[in-house]
Amino acid sequence: MSDVKQELLTLAVDVGGSGIKVMVLDGNGTPIGDRVRIETPRPAKPKLVIEAIAALADGQIVSGYGFDRISVGFPGVVRNGITARAVNLDPDWDGFDLGSVLSQRLGKPVRIANDADVQGLGAISGLGVELVITLGTGFGSAVFVNNRLVPNLELGHHKFSGGKTYEERLGNAALEKVGAKTWNRRLVKAITSLSSLFNYDCLYIGGGNSKVITLKLPENVKIVSNVSGLLGGIRLWQD
Ligand code: BGC
Repeated sequence: MSDVKQELLTLAVDVGGSGIKVMVLDGNGTPIGDRVRIETPRPAKPKLVIEAIAALADGQIVSGYGFDRISVGFPGVVRNGITARAVNLDPDWDGFDLGSVLSQRLGKPVRIANDADVQGLGAISGLGVELVITLGTGFGSAVFVNNRLVPNLELGHHKFSGGKTYEERLGNAALEKVGAKTWNRRLVKAITSLSSLFNYDCLYIGGGNSKVITLKLPENVKIVSNVSGLLGGIRLWQD
C-alpha cells in the first residue's frame, strides 16, 4: 500500500451576481474537471444560492470529481465566514453565517472570502503593490502588498465621477446603458484615477466584462482570465 499522503481536493466556488461557477482543484491548485456555471437564482437569497451550490457540488461528485473542502468567493464583504452587504444579491446576506450553513449542508469544511480578493489570490505575482479590479455585475477590488491581502477593499461603492460610484459607472448595468465605447472611456479615467491613488506596481483586471475592453492598456495593467476567480480558492487554505 502506498504511504503517499493523498492530497486534498478543493471545490472552488465563485458566487457572482449573474452566475455561480464551480471547479475542483487538486492540492497544487490545478483544475481537474471542467468549470461549470449556472445562473444565479433570483431572488438571490441565501437558501436558494446554497441549494444552487449544493446542486453544482453534487454534479461534480457525479462526474467523478469528489472533494474534501470548499472555497467560496462571495460578491460582498466577508468576515470569518459571515457575509455582510452584497448589493448584487439580496439584503438577507447581511450578517449571514455562510461558512457554517454551507459546511453543514455539504458536510465539508468551508472557507470564504470576497470574490475580488479570491480573484486576486489567483492572479498576483506577490511582488510590490498589486491592485485588482473585477468588471462584472458589480465592480470588485482587492489590494495586495508583497503577497499580503488587505481584505474587503470596497472601491466599487466609492465616488468616482459625476457624483457616481465606480460600480454605478462601470458595473454591468452601466455598460448595458451607455455601450462599450463610453464604458471604455470611463475605464481609462478609472485606471488613471486608481493609478494616482494606489501607485501600484501592477493592476489586474478580471471579471466577465473585461472581454469588452478595447483600450490599449499601459504596460503595468493586465487582463486576467476569469478562471483565476476560481484558482485563487486554493490559497484560502494556505495559512
Ligand atoms: C461588492 C464587492 C464585490 C463586487 C464584485 C460589489 O458590489 O460590493 O464586494 O467584490 O461587487 O462582485
